[in-house]
Amino acid sequence: MPQTQRSVGVVGVGYVGLVTAVCLAHLGHQVVCLDVDEAKIEALRAGRVPIYEPGLDELIAGARDHLSFITSYDELCASCRILFVAVDTPPSPSGDADMSRVDRVVRDVSSRGGERLLVMKSTVPVGTGERVTAELEAAGVTGIGYVSNPEFLREGAAVDDVLHPDRIVIGAYREADGDEVQRLFAAIETTVVRTTVPTAEMIKYASNAFLATKISFINEIANVCEAVGADVRSVADGMGLDHRIGPYFLQAGIGYGGSCFPKDVQALKQLAGNTGYHFQLLNAVIEVNHLQKRRVVGKLQERVGRLRGKRVALLGLTFKPHTDDLREAASIVLAARLHAEGALVSAYDPMVPPGSRVDLFPNVQIATSALEALDGVDAAIVVTEWPEFIELDWNVVRERMRGRHVIDGRNALDAGRLAAAGLSYDGIGTVDDHVVAGEPLTSNEAR
Ligand code: UDX
Repeated sequence: MPQTQRSVGVVGVGYVGLVTAVCLAHLGHQVVCLDVDEAKIEALRAGRVPIYEPGLDELIAGARDHLSFITSYDELCASCRILFVAVDTPPSPSGDADMSRVDRVVRDVSSRGGERLLVMKSTVPVGTGERVTAELEAAGVTGIGYVSNPEFLREGAAVDDVLHPDRIVIGAYREADGDEVQRLFAAIETTVVRTTVPTAEMIKYASNAFLATKISFINEIANVCEAVGADVRSVADGMGLDHRIGPYFLQAGIGYGGSCFPKDVQALKQLAGNTGYHFQLLNAVIEVNHLQKRRVVGKLQERVGRLRGKRVALLGLTFKPHTDDLREAASIVLAARLHAEGALVSAYDPMVPPGSRVDLFPNVQIATSALEALDGVDAAIVVTEWPEFIELDWNVVRERMRGRHVIDGRNALDAGRLAAAGLSYDGIGTVDDHVVAGEPLTSNEAR
């Protein structure tokens, strides 16, 4: 497909980059995607989508004529003036965001000269726009504009989040640059927040940190509910009806994971620390999230006693349903903790085939079905609320399991159905938990 200067470039075809590119193409723009990973680009050229994201394959198929995939910056700069930057910014050993990939893109683009507009989609520390523009200026590079346009998409709902966002945030140094980016999204009906670059950068971090805070808050409420006999789901419902609180992100469970929350909360804490400000609240948010995963192991020990030699199944490995992403998934910590306690761990996840991800799950037997993973186990833990677990036939499960204990780390199952099948059920901060008669709580000494 011949490219013109009117094409829009997207650098990085990870979750954010690819979904952004495909949605821009869907909106009618010519989009050129660049990634340094040749295998990924080859796959995309051959029509293979390297990530699992509902609706993405169909959208790519429908927008094929508007998309091209390349690895050459010369080619990219020959055809695009506006360049979205969507490379990853993983945590560095210090907890700050690792900016090496972003900096590389800026170098690769600026060294080719010409007029460009860099649109930052990657989550970058507040101050990045200032730094990048100052460095370009110091290097005598002119003609490169900079706009911050943070992304708020959720994996598993990414396409919908990009095409029907709650808001579009555009931070620009020059009004005209912001206008140009806004025009690209003109077909999307939503509120557009026009602001400065540092404010746009901060909106992204503050949003993610606030959502993570909501989750850690409700998880602590759940832990207190367990002690006082209240049910966190009803508590959350009752709280959520207050429109100042809202019903979202109040689902108690075994904590948040994924590519954004853990990294962004840590990065904001670090960013504040670098300026001399001690962000106390975020310390607690992070710690609660760590402990929440470990509490499940304690709960399991209360039910089955010592874990040495016990067989435990993990239902779900991805950090949430409808994604194949395992980054910062609770399953990784749980599997390692269970193994350290001497348990024999099996697992099933619709997105993680047997024999894969030995790097993350070196001691886990990954099965081809939930029932296979549950075969002969003493206990099961629901880690990810995939719909197929909710719909399991618990009578069949009961027959396949050796023991009876099910811990629902996502409060997703129908406790009554498990009880009817003779299974013991524990949620997180719920009151309809029940222990099967004849199998009382083991005492602490039994651990
Ligand atoms: C998140 C933000 O929602 C998105 O705006 C941002 O751009 C990237 O980070 P994502 O990581 O894809 O998106 O997933 P999200 O659906 O937000 O869930 C994050 C984690 O929080 C998951 O592990 C989920 O299980 C957990 N969670 C979410 C809860 O434990 N309780 C809740 O109520 C909501």
